[in-house]
Amino acid sequence: LNYNVSRERRYILEMLFNGLRRLEYRGYDSAGISIDSDEHGPLVFRQEGNIESLVKSVYQEVATTDLNLEESFSIHAGIAHTRWATHGEPAPRNSHPQTSDPGNEFLVVHNGVVTNYEVLKESLVRHGFTFQSDTDTEVIPKLAKFVFDNANEEGDKRVTFSQVVLEVMRHLEGAYALIFKSRHYPNELVACKRGSPLLLGVKELNEKASTGACFNDAKFLSSNGQPKELFLSSDASALVEHTKKVLVIEDGEVVHVKDGGATIFKFDPAKRGGTLTRPASVERALSVLEMEVEQINKGKYEHYMQKEIHEQPDSLTTTMRGRLIRGGSCKAKSVLLGGLKDHLKTIRRSRRIVFIGCGTSYNAALAARPILEELSGIPVTLEIASDLLDRQGPIYREDTTVFVSQSGETADTLQALEYALENGALCVGITNTVGSAIARTTHCGVHINAGCEIGVASTKAYTSQIVVMAMLALAIGDDTISSQTRREAIIDGLFDLPSKLKEVLKLDEEMKDLARLLIAEQSLLVFGRGYNYATALEGALKVKEVALMHSEGILAGEMKHGPLALVDETLPIVVVATRDACFSKQQSVIHQLHARKGRLIVMCTKGDAASVCVGGSCRVIEVPQVEDCLQPVINIVPLQLLAYHLTVLRGHNVDQPRNLAKSVTTQ
Ligand code: G6P
Repeated sequence: LNYNVSRERRYILEMLFNGLRRLEYRGYDSAGISIDSDEHGPLVFRQEGNIESLVKSVYQEVATTDLNLEESFSIHAGIAHTRWATHGEPAPRNSHPQTSDPGNEFLVVHNGVVTNYEVLKESLVRHGFTFQSDTDTEVIPKLAKFVFDNANEEGDKRVTFSQVVLEVMRHLEGAYALIFKSRHYPNELVACKRGSPLLLGVKELNEKASTGACFNDAKFLSSNGQPKELFLSSDASALVEHTKKVLVIEDGEVVHVKDGGATIFKFDPAKRGGTLTRPASVERALSVLEMEVEQINKGKYEHYMQKEIHEQPDSLTTTMRGRLIRGGSCKAKSVLLGGLKDHLKTIRRSRRIVFIGCGTSYNAALAARPILEELSGIPVTLEIASDLLDRQGPIYREDTTVFVSQSGETADTLQALEYALENGALCVGITNTVGSAIARTTHCGVHINAGCEIGVASTKAYTSQIVVMAMLALAIGDDTISSQTRREAIIDGLFDLPSKLKEVLKLDEEMKDLARLLIAEQSLLVFGRGYNYATALEGALKVKEVALMHSEGILAGEMKHGPLALVDETLPIVVVATRDACFSKQQSVIHQLHARKGRLIVMCTKGDAASVCVGGSCRVIEVPQVEDCLQPVINIVPLQLLAYHLTVLRGHNVDQPRNLAKSVTTQ
């Protein structure tokens, strides 16, 4: 194919497209890109659908129009974006980059939501701007043009790109990570953030610039006279194949990329606009990403969700690495959570421990609650972040609040964290993302170290979260002699968990068979209780979100208060009835469901098939037994596999279920 695109240009396009592919799991209903062209100024391409539709449309447009991308160029600053619609349907005009005007004087890509966009839009319309999209983002490039034009009218011809952006920030409310590009500042990009994540990746630093070196200004990067490749991204997975050296940009910071270097400024709300005063640059330390490129590839698997389910024996091993102490002749077995050791006394003295999260992270806290209550002796309550905020539920200074979030960026959880901080509670973070907003904003915490999770439906993060919370329970209860035997049994159980996980993964084919059986069903109920109430909720959530089949997790103790009315010979029901203190109650539930001709699929402990299969007619899923409080880690796996196979068989997108996003950074 003659793409009419030079090799250099192709390199840049492919680098941007590849970055988008890495981020596709965060948003995938439309995408866009802007690259430089000496002849036409910044070019913008936008397309509805996935990244590949954008790639196709860019090359097609270049091939079929008089755009000449074979021209040589000395400078380049490209931006690209993949979108998950918040305001406005997925359509090219609503995709990013959003522009200030047809001449692309200012272009913006945005992750987040501008909450005061209506007021800003009204005011910009009064100043003669016309809007093309339904997005909140479009006000941003228009505001930049407005600020730029005004500064020039006032005779300030030397206004810098970052000064324009700092002035724009003054007017924006909400959450954002933004990258600006402008016809007026070719070869420059300005990025800024408040509330949404942003990283600057720096490739090929000279020798002096190792971790911990101070990153100050453009001179630092250009000290050997060579311009560097700089990358800005909302997510480390787009950077890691280029560089592991990053700056985690803080809220209120502005990154000005120019002449192969970058300068960081701090937004100062006290400085009034108008005069567009020159800001002072700030010094920041570089950090090194702990991510490996292999983590963001599918390897031998067809889908990320499949890979992430199957890597759980390894992700759990990493979660526990260095944290379990085997003990010895004179030393008890124990756990060591470095990020909490200075706060354990405060946690033990708290009046309540409140776990806060959304989706799967909430379910993980639900799974761990019984053991947390048992070993800490402290009341443990659970809050869905949005609900806590809606109610403005009471949080006290004497509370320990624990924020559970895979991404560490979920908007509701983050806002609940701010609320807890305002109320003076101790705030602990449990996240999978080093450097994330929740990790940075909490007083202390534990990283779950499950490795990068890309499938939108959370799997390996869930099991690692439960394990971390079990370890938290062990650490809190560590000073209680009476529970020592129990704690040691749990620690032994934790050591054994990866091998038991390997065992339960052997059910893959069996779950595929079950999926074949259920492929055409409309609905699936999952009954659980005690440690496995969470298994019921989380199993149903997986089926619902990826297989797009209605599914409900039901607390078995509530069966007679409503759900029983649904039971007939057609509706498939999974009952989790593995061995623990609730086993006999679950046996009785099975009897009652059987009496109403329920179509039962029972999950039980290996060897228990005969005792759970009333009348011999039900289907059985036998799982290995582990310590009761760790059983949810094992029990969720067959249901993850079931959801995965159901999705593939039903022909749906496994890794990017419709309408859902991995990291919900808007409210
Ligand atoms: C979204 C994701 C879920 C996730 C939830 C909470 O809904 O699709 O997989 O469980 O957000 O995300 P967090 O990153 O805070 O754990």
